[in-house]
Order: sequence, then C-alpha cells, then structure tokens
Amino acid sequence: MAFVAPQIVRGFSSSAVRNVVIKNVTIIGGGQMGAGIAQVAASTGHSVTLVDTSDDILKKSIKMIEGSLKRVVKKKFSDKPEAGEEFIKKVVQKVSTSTDAESAVQGSDLVVEAIVENLKIKQDLFSRLDKLAPPHTIFASNTSSLSICDIASSTNRQDRFGGLHFFNPVAMMKLVEVIGTPATSQDTLDSLLDFSKVLGKTPVSCKDTSGFIVNRLLVPCMMEAIRLYERGDASKEDIDIGMKLGAGYPMGPFELADYVGLDIVKAVIEAFKTKDPNNPLFDSSDLLNKLVAEGKLGIKTGEGFYKYK
Ligand code: NAI
Repeated sequence: MAFVAPQIVRGFSSSAVRNVVIKNVTIIGGGQMGAGIAQVAASTGHSVTLVDTSDDILKKSIKMIEGSLKRVVKKKFSDKPEAGEEFIKKVVQKVSTSTDAESAVQGSDLVVEAIVENLKIKQDLFSRLDKLAPPHTIFASNTSSLSICDIASSTNRQDRFGGLHFFNPVAMMKLVEVIGTPATSQDTLDSLLDFSKVLGKTPVSCKDTSGFIVNRLLVPCMMEAIRLYERGDASKEDIDIGMKLGAGYPMGPFELADYVGLDIVKAVIEAFKTKDPNNPLFDSSDLLNKLVAEGKLGIKTGEGFYKYK
C-alpha cells in the first residue's frame, strides 16, 4: 500500500466553503470507530488529531490502530516485513492525540465526531467547537441512528455540516454513507464524497432519514427476524441459515445482532421509533428488551441470542 498524500482542491463556488483542501482532520472519540477512522485517514496521508477524554483512553486508541495496522501489513507486506514496519511507523506518526477538543479543531479542515451515541452530548460538543473552529472547517458526525439535522442545529455552520457514516471495522469496510441535510451545501457534500474516495472508500449519498440506507434496511430486517422467532414461526438457527443461503447474507440476522450488540440494536430501533412513532417497522420486541435487561448483549458479554465461549 502506497503512503501518499492526496489533496482535494475544490473549484470556485458561491458557497461559504471554497477551495477546501482536507489535509488536517480532527477525530473526536477514540473508540472503536474513531480509532478506525483515524487509521484510514492517517494511512492516506492526512494529519490526524485524535481526541478523547483521557490520555489512558488515547493510549488504548493508538494500540488499537497499531494492532489493526499490523493485520493490514501482514497481508500487504507479507514478503517485505521491514517496509511493513516502516509503513506502520509513518502512519502512527501522522496521528497526534489530545484531550483538548477546543484546541485540536483550530487547525482543522474537517472534524469527524465519533463519540457516545447521545444527542445532547453530541450537540454540546459541536456547539463548543463551532465557536473555535475556523470558518472553512467542515463538521461531520458518524452517528448511526441520530438525525444529522438535530445534531447540526447546535451550530451556526449548518451549510458546512453533514453525516459521514463509516462501517465497522473501518479499515476493512469499503462503504461510507455521506449524509446531507436540507441546509448542507453542495460544496460540503462534494468535499465529504471526495474525502471518502481519498480514504479508499466507496461513498454513497443519502438524505437525513432514520438509519440512512444500510441501517434503515438492516435493522428492521433484524427486528422482523426476532419477531418471526418470537412468534415461533421458525428457529433462530433456521432463520440465520435461510438468510445466508437464500438471500446471500454473509451473517444471519441473529448472528449479526449478536455481533453488533443487542443494546445497540435496541437503541437504534428506539431512536427510529422516536422519529417515526407510527411506523410498525420500528416496533420494539419483548424478547430483545428482556435479553438487554439481563445483560445478554451478544458476543461482547459472551451471550446474546447465542452463547459464546
Ligand atoms: P465507543 O464507545 O467505542 O467510543 C466512543 C469514544 O468516545 C470513547 O472512547 C469515549 O471515551 C469517547 N467520548 C465520549 N464522549 C466524549 C467527548 N465528549 N469528547 C471526546 N471523547 C468522548 O463507540 P463507537 O462504537 O466507536 O461509536 C462511536 C459513534 O460511531 C457512535 O455515534 C456510534 O453510533 C457510531 N457508529 C458505531 C458503529 C459501531 O459498529 N460501533 C458503526 C457506525 C457508527
């Protein structure tokens, strides 16, 4: 994999964002997603500042990035281990860390937020950053289930605000959903689409609708699978086999729910329901609620719909 520093030079336009060159990226939240986004941005030559609430967390984020890069290098540099080591070193050098989001955004062309999935906390963060980030800086949220419009409403840069929804694990998954609200400018959308391509991803565009494209289809499918099982119409094993062999899914809906985390599935469907209370696709499930209440959250707790030893 080449270590390149691609730049995107935007043409003249009448919007507030002109000639944006995304070189410096601030990522807020160094968890599973933020660390992954930092890794792919640094691997494609961007200067990255990764922000979280403590140095201990940030140390773990860097460890996560190194671990993931080692897996990449094992494949890509199998016959040139020294070049692989050099690549890891160069990528990690491109990532600096900070616990001070306000300072970090001051030299940033793009801020990608990947913190806890809570509207108020995301709004508070962006409202603070809005006062300090340069006027040209684009803000983006990696939210899975919240409205980009609602998050952006806490700022005065709604034309420079969009969704940039990566998939887990970020280094492996090719897709990025680029979300525009009615206020997002075309220049901002173009910048986010171009940035995604520079990361080596395939972007797709979607309006700010619950779940965007993928989760809008995937989460109701998981919920319907759970309801099918709850009604006793089929076993969870047969539903999983059915969707794998009959629909070509790489994982069955119960396997996927356990992988994602049942608490996350529950939170996502509840967020959809709040936005669209009369849509039966977003109805809750007693069985899902029971498993979550019992702490059976899937692979991460050792048990969800299935048991993991
Ligand atoms: P995570 O829990 O692994 O990481 C969140 C990180 O944000 C933590 O390290 C936490 O310390 C930090 N954080 C919380 N509040 C903060 C603040 N105010 N300032 C700075 N750092 C803060 O969560 P994960 O899974 O990385 O998810 C992050 C976002 O990405 C969420 O909005 C989630 O919906 C979204 N997402 C998650 C996916 C997944 O499969 N986990 C997939 C796609 C999107």
